[in-house]
Amino acid sequence: MSEKIRQYWDERAGQNAGELTATTQDVWMRHLEVATLIGLIEELAPPAGARIADMGCGDGNTLLALAPRFRDYRFSGFDYAPQMIETANNNLAALGAEGSNLQFSVGDVTDPVASVGEASLDIAMTDRCLINLDDSAAQFRALGEIARTLKPGGHYLAIENFHEGQDAMNAARAAVGLPEIQVRWHNHFFHEAEFRAEAERHFETIEIREFASAYYYATRVIYSAMCKMQGVDPDYQHEIHQLAVKLPAMGAYSPIRLVILRKKG
Ligand SMILES: C[S@@+](CC[C@H](N)C(=O)[O-])C[C@H]1O[C@@H](n2cnc3c(N)ncnc32)[C@H](O)[C@@H]1O
Repeated sequence: MSEKIRQYWDERAGQNAGELTATTQDVWMRHLEVATLIGLIEELAPPAGARIADMGCGDGNTLLALAPRFRDYRFSGFDYAPQMIETANNNLAALGAEGSNLQFSVGDVTDPVASVGEASLDIAMTDRCLINLDDSAAQFRALGEIARTLKPGGHYLAIENFHEGQDAMNAARAAVGLPEIQVRWHNHFFHEAEFRAEAERHFETIEIREFASAYYYATRVIYSAMCKMQGVDPDYQHEIHQLAVKLPAMGAYSPIRLVILRKKG
């Protein structure tokens, strides 16, 4: 299964090289994720020289936005799909001197110490990466390995998918006559209680932020229901997505959540 998933991402990278659609069709959700991560780095404000790594960075879109904005920090990104890293490096070259605090490499989130070293990072992040691992045992082993890469007191920012948000979104969809959205073949979502129990072994604070709930409610429930009424297919380019990224946090209707974890000091 793992090899099939890696091939899937490698092919996607090839087919969408240089496009925001390399890692999701929902490009406005990508904008929301990047804006949320920028806000969080400002909030955490690590000291100058801090090391920040994006694990499973895809085509590097997030770090290519962060590195020029936070020139005092050193960024690295790795992904196990070589084609993703090839695109990331091409885009990094186009950035010129603005990208001198950023580097990309091929690496595996199940062994992040091999890519970034032990106890070396101020901030580690994953964005819809752990959901690609084969099962919860592999996901929780990776969680422990990510904790090993952090300095004591360092932060892990996990943008990952949870069943609870998926179920709430599907219940809202059912209320307006829409079918269930199923978890894709290559994804394994977390259950919140299980995630918290495992995370508590390595991290002292675990905070969940529903940064995408209003966006999902607007796009996957209200807009989708209107499309059904009008007999048209939902379109990720429709302006509602652009508006929905601006909505304030509301409810818990998104499968995608941000978890902020602080490593035990
Ligand atoms: C949904 S994409 C997200 C990419 C990027 N984080 C973003 O937000 O655009 C998932 C990424 O995880 C990568 N990935 C999946 N399993 C991985 C693993 N074991 N090690 C490293 N990368 C992995 C895939 O190659 C893919 O680029």
